[in-house]
Amino acid sequence: MHSDRLRRMRSSPALRRMTSENTINPADLVQPVFVDETIAAERPIGCLPGISAHPLSGIADHVKELEESGVQAIMLFGIPVHKDAVGSSAYDTDGVVQKAVRSIKGACDVVVMADVCLCEYTDHGHCGILSEGRVVDEATLPLLQRIAVTLAYAGADLVAPSGMMDGAVSSIRSSLDLAGHVGVPIMSYAAKYNSAFYGPFREAACSSPKMGDRSSYQMDVSNYREALRSVARDVKDGADIIMVKPAISSLDIIRACRDSHELPVAAYQVSGEYAMIMCAADQGIIDGARAMAESLMAIKRAGADIIISYYARQYISGR
Ligand code: PBG
Repeated sequence: MHSDRLRRMRSSPALRRMTSENTINPADLVQPVFVDETIAAERPIGCLPGISAHPLSGIADHVKELEESGVQAIMLFGIPVHKDAVGSSAYDTDGVVQKAVRSIKGACDVVVMADVCLCEYTDHGHCGILSEGRVVDEATLPLLQRIAVTLAYAGADLVAPSGMMDGAVSSIRSSLDLAGHVGVPIMSYAAKYNSAFYGPFREAACSSPKMGDRSSYQMDVSNYREALRSVARDVKDGADIIMVKPAISSLDIIRACRDSHELPVAAYQVSGEYAMIMCAADQGIIDGARAMAESLMAIKRAGADIIISYYARQYISGR
């Protein structure tokens, strides 16, 4: 028998552990957190089992609990009382996320990342400013700059533009620097596909577009080279971390980013990926904990350094 006996190394738990190629550290995981200005008590999100939106009054306590469970980083998303055509609540110094950041930073030490986008704040639900029904970069970029600066001023540790507007990274970088926030990094949603897997998030964040869809700014799922161009552009423009989204359906892109860039690579296991596994587990169809661990490990194996996941707290705390 001349073939490699690969099974030699699989023959005991200790050997398997010793030869395991990848591990997920709690510090690699980021827990998304929804803060909702319209509620006075925790609102469970039906389509994301185990996840709730939290009122401003309870947000610091919620994040403190996450911290006590071992979570070391969160990504904040806000649901404002007021929506309008230009998303003005998004760049209000007293906006829902700006307030949430201040109260969280006063209470605990987790890394607070903040999403930079307009879709939760516009009455039309698009990620940018509309002119004659189309999202326009030039009108949107100054507002993204204001969002980023107000979030940095509130104390956010990192800002994460997610709207797929061309020029977002360079304009946010220059406005942060000008405002004195040279130390606040940008995690760019550099390769973000126009995905059906964002459905539960849009229900949670009340951010579905009222007309049309996001195909004029998010990438077509058939494209590979375009993702690499988008990532390379954001690297050149000053991103500190590049992110790929969704995760499981973009493992090829995660691997390509890892192989062609030196920056940390993040992947977002999005709401639909989480919901699919949790709902199948709720019905007894699959073992949820094992399927989640396998999914997260596949994302890690593809090359992600950082994983944003609704399952982060449960993975870290083992329940
Ligand atoms: C905002 C944003 C979205 C997600 C993260 N930031 C929604 C979207 O693009 O429609 C989706 C995250 C998820 O599905 O978990 N632009």
